Parts: sequence; C-alpha cells; structure tokens
Amino acid sequence: PAVAQKVAANKPISPDLFGIFIEDINYTADGGLYAELVQNRSFEYSPSDRGGWHPLTSWDYLHEGYAMGSLSVESAAPLHANNPHYVQLRVENPFQKGLGIKNSGFDGIALKAGEKYDFSLWARSKGGAAMPLLVQLRDAKGAVLAETTLSAKVGEWQQYRATLAPNASAPDASLVVLATGKGVVDLDMISLFPQKTFRNHPNGLRADLTQALADLKPRFVRFPGGCLAHGDGLDNLYDWKKTIGPVEQRVAQRNIWGYHQTAGLGYFEYFQLCEDLGARALPVVAAGVSCQNSGGSWRIGGTGQQCVPLADMAAYTQDILDLIEYANGPATSTWGAKRAAAGHPAPFNLHYIGIGNEDKQTPEFRERFQLIYDAVRTKYPNIEVIGTVGPAPKGEDFEQGWAFANQLNVPLVDEHYYENPEWFLANNRRYDSYDRSKSKVYLGEYASRGNTLFNALAEAAYMTSLERNGDVVRLASYAPLLAKENHTQWNPDLIYFNNSTVVPTANYYVQALFGQNTGTEYCANVVTLPTTVAADTVAASCVRDARSGDIIVKLVNVGGSAQSFTVDLSRFKGVNSAATLITFAGPKTAKNTFATPQAVQPKTTAYKASRNFTYTAAPYSLTVIRMRAK
Ligand code: AHR
Repeated sequence: PAVAQKVAANKPISPDLFGIFIEDINYTADGGLYAELVQNRSFEYSPSDRGGWHPLTSWDYLHEGYAMGSLSVESAAPLHANNPHYVQLRVENPFQKGLGIKNSGFDGIALKAGEKYDFSLWARSKGGAAMPLLVQLRDAKGAVLAETTLSAKVGEWQQYRATLAPNASAPDASLVVLATGKGVVDLDMISLFPQKTFRNHPNGLRADLTQALADLKPRFVRFPGGCLAHGDGLDNLYDWKKTIGPVEQRVAQRNIWGYHQTAGLGYFEYFQLCEDLGARALPVVAAGVSCQNSGGSWRIGGTGQQCVPLADMAAYTQDILDLIEYANGPATSTWGAKRAAAGHPAPFNLHYIGIGNEDKQTPEFRERFQLIYDAVRTKYPNIEVIGTVGPAPKGEDFEQGWAFANQLNVPLVDEHYYENPEWFLANNRRYDSYDRSKSKVYLGEYASRGNTLFNALAEAAYMTSLERNGDVVRLASYAPLLAKENHTQWNPDLIYFNNSTVVPTANYYVQALFGQNTGTEYCANVVTLPTTVAADTVAASCVRDARSGDIIVKLVNVGGSAQSFTVDLSRFKGVNSAATLITFAGPKTAKNTFATPQAVQPKTTAYKASRNFTYTAAPYSLTVIRMRAK
C-alpha cells in the first residue's frame, strides 16, 4: 500500500529548480530555433560536416531561358577569413531571365502571406559595371510570390538588404537570386529571416518555437551541450569566442550530431534569449577534454586529439574567464565591450557555469577540471560552478565523479539519466537520502524514454520528488528539448517541430505545469496518498510560493483507476475558496504527434477549495490545484 511521502519538516525549494537544456541536436539551432530560412547561406558546408555535403548543398544552379555563363565556388579574397567560400556567377549573356542560384531552405522555406521577410546578401561586381540582381521568392511550382531588384556595385564586398512580402503562403518555397546583367559577380551570406522573430530581435529566433520555450517558464537555460559542448576532438570543442560578433565573421563547424553548425545562434543570442525568458544562463564549457575523452570512435574527421595540452591550459582557462567577463564585465572591459558592441551594454548577470559533460574520471580530466575550477573560483567567487559526473544513475564514472566533486567542494554536480518510466516510479525516493552537507545536484538531463502520457506522468511523479528535495536538487532540466521532423538523432525529446508546426509532447505539458506552478517552500505532509494502490503509482506535492502567496498542490495518478488524495491545509491561516484546477489526463498510451498534435492537453477550470478536502484524481492524470492563501 502507498504511504504518504512524509518528510520531517517544510523545506526551502531552490528558486531555479526547473529549467531547460538547449543543445544543437536534432536541428535544434540551425533549421530550428535560429530563424534563418536559408540553408548553407555562406557556402561553408563540406564533406567533413557530413559525407556528400559540399559548398553548394541546398543550392541549385539556375540558368534560366537561354542565359549563358557559369558558376563556381571561389575562395580568393573572401568576405572574411572565417568565411572562406563564396559563389561567383560569370554571365556571358543573361538573355531575358539571367543566371543564378536557388536555395530550398531546410526542407523548403515556409512562407506566410501577410508577413514580411528580411532578405540580405553580400556581393561585389567584378566587371566594369554594377551587376543587376533579381531576388525572388517562388513556390514549389515556380510561381513568383515576391520579388525585388538590387544592384551590386563594383569594388569591395558590400551588404545589400531588401524586404520581401509574399502574396501567398507556401510551405515549401525557395529563394532565388539571379544576375541579370553581363559580367561577373561574387555572392556570399545570402540570408532570409522572417521579420517577426521572438521579441523581434535581428538575427533572431523563430517566434513560435521560442514561445513554446517561454511557456515552460524556465528558470535557467543550459547551453550548448551536452556532448556538443566538448565535441568529439579538440578541433570540435565549442569555442564561444567563435560564436560572437558579426555573423559573417563567425566560425562555422561540424556539428557532433552529424550536420553543420553556423553559430548564427551563438553566445550573444543565447544570453539574450535567457534575458527574454527571465531565466538564468547556465553555459557549459568543456573541461579541457572532449567527449568522454574516449578517443572519439564515432567521429568523422579532425585530429582525434582529446585533451588540451597542459601547456595550453592557461590560455584555455583564460577563454573561460573571458566568457564570464563577456557576460558580466563592464562595457569598458575587453570582453564586456564586445557585448556592448553587440547592443547590450548592461551585464547579463551570469551566475552559473558548468565545467564538463559526462566526463570520464581520468587523471587528464581531473587535472584540467581543477585548473579551471580554481581559476574561476579565484577570479569570480560569486559564480557557482557545476561539476560533472559520468552518466548516472550509477557506474564507476558516476561514483568517482561525485567523490571528486565532494573532495573539491564543487557547489553543484550535474547528473544525467535516461531510463524507462518504471525506473522513475521506483526511484521516487532517490534524493530523499542525499547528503545535504555535500555538493548539491543539478539534474541536467533526464527523460523516461518515451512520449506517451504514461512516460510524462512517470516524470511528473518524479518531479514531485524533485520539489520535495528542492533543497538538495537545485536545478533540473529534461533533455533533449527540441527535435525536427526527419532530422532527429535522439529520442525522446520534449518538443517536435517542422517548418510550420510545433508539437508539444505530453512530457512538455508536465514540464510546463511544474514550471508554471513552482513554489519557494515544500510543505510537508499536506497531502495523504491513497493507501489502496501500489506506492509507485501515486505521488503528490504541496508547495507554497512566497512570491505570489499561492499554495499549489500537485497530484499524480500513474495507474488505471481513479484515486482519492486527501489534502489538509489546516496549518495555513486559510485559503480562498476560488481556486484553479488544471487536469492533464487521458489514455495511458496517448501521444501528441504531427497528425494529432493536441491528443493530450491540460484543461483549466475553476475549483472550490477548502482547508480540508478529498480530490479524486482520474486514471492516468496529473492534477494541479492552485489556491490563494488568506
Ligand atoms: O541529450 C543528448 C546527449 O545525451 C547529450 O549530448 C549528452 O550529454 C547525453 O549523453
């Protein structure tokens, strides 16, 4: 039989408990959150990104009508040394239509009638005269939805901009640039953004996807990995300095998950997103070693070198200190000035930094971790460092990682586990016995290997235990966050999407209900669980939120029959009877998909609360009752 999840006393809950983890896996950034609609805009795709890819991947050569001439990829006198390739069009005779290129975006470009799109490109004409350019948006059948003309001047590279407003919507449009005069023209960084991005930032993020993140009310955002942070070789580490500044000067690189990373969504955009979401940033840097310093057996290129040589560690560590200065330093500091130049003179108030990801506990890792840890602590004692352990829930690198973190008094340790739902139900008490005097927990990645309602409820039950242990589990984030249809390297994920649809999973709604209903204090022994079912199948929490004054009860029924929970609020002065009830329930195997994106969704209704009540929760349900204290 179930027993009440008794804890001795009320406990404070970390104010940052529920957050999100953004890793560029499953086309999360390029082709996803990052609103750029042109794929391979800078002609930097290469076979080292993925076998068969090249500078013209996602581009078609157009010589329309009787146009005569040729196209080539060049690298002499590029737009920037970090962006070495560009396209050259040599037009011998444009006839009426011209010679050019067409980009089909990431699985097509989704356009909406009534919306405006910002087009830009860099160009230089090499003939004796300016080169006229015709820019068009076309639907899949070739009909022109919008067009404009530009004139590329002779001389140095210059950026040209135009606004395009398609006269019809199209899910799979393309962008065409045609040189319509005689001569030679170089083109690079051909870009198309919706004008409406999240908070309308230039070089911004896709509004609908980012809104889905905002609705989770995350208290922090971990970025950029995961494995992506440390890459699968030294040449593949995520180097934050290569991701800031003008986009045409950023350094693209092979994404560890088998595609290409433009760094268009780089560190500035990340910090800006955190600010927009009202969330704390939680950047993760490699601990001077790459992926589990394992020799990178699954890598497809690069040097294979796994550890930063000790002789280079001072410079590597300085890069990490510079990241903190970039976030927090005054606008007059070297790196703060770069933040200010990007349009944000005020600091971003960075508080956390993660060092390492699931690293093997080798001497190489430990030596480098300690060098970085000591340097950060010395220069920035107010920054909270998050250490790493091997993949959990147990194992050599997990146990040794914890021992090492406790030995160094690392404030927080990042645990990861992907298990089946039954594991989450059976391990509800995992953190009850964690030693409160030692390093605290950041549960950086967890998921119950599936997106059914049952998976989501197993996670909900577990999340009540995270609230119950909100004094020792300071942060938690489901992983991974996003996955693009047909480009998914990892399942399960929290949100699936394609160019026009966003599918929040059942797990998403659980995260949202917890994120939107956080508390600052766990109230012990308010809810009594039903005693007629197996303990694993029911869970509950009661939290009080000092900020709003609300009392929030969450009831989870992971079984197939209705269950009654009793709620005793007599310790509080009283509650207003006008309360809010949110129920999230359905068949055990219900799942949101592209075909049925709203198969399961929470429902909100009014509820009449009292100091003592019994609530009968539907089979397979999460119930949230939000009450106002008198
Ligand atoms: O989230 C996917 C991967 O899972 C992360 O990159 C890694 O940290 C974990 O193994």
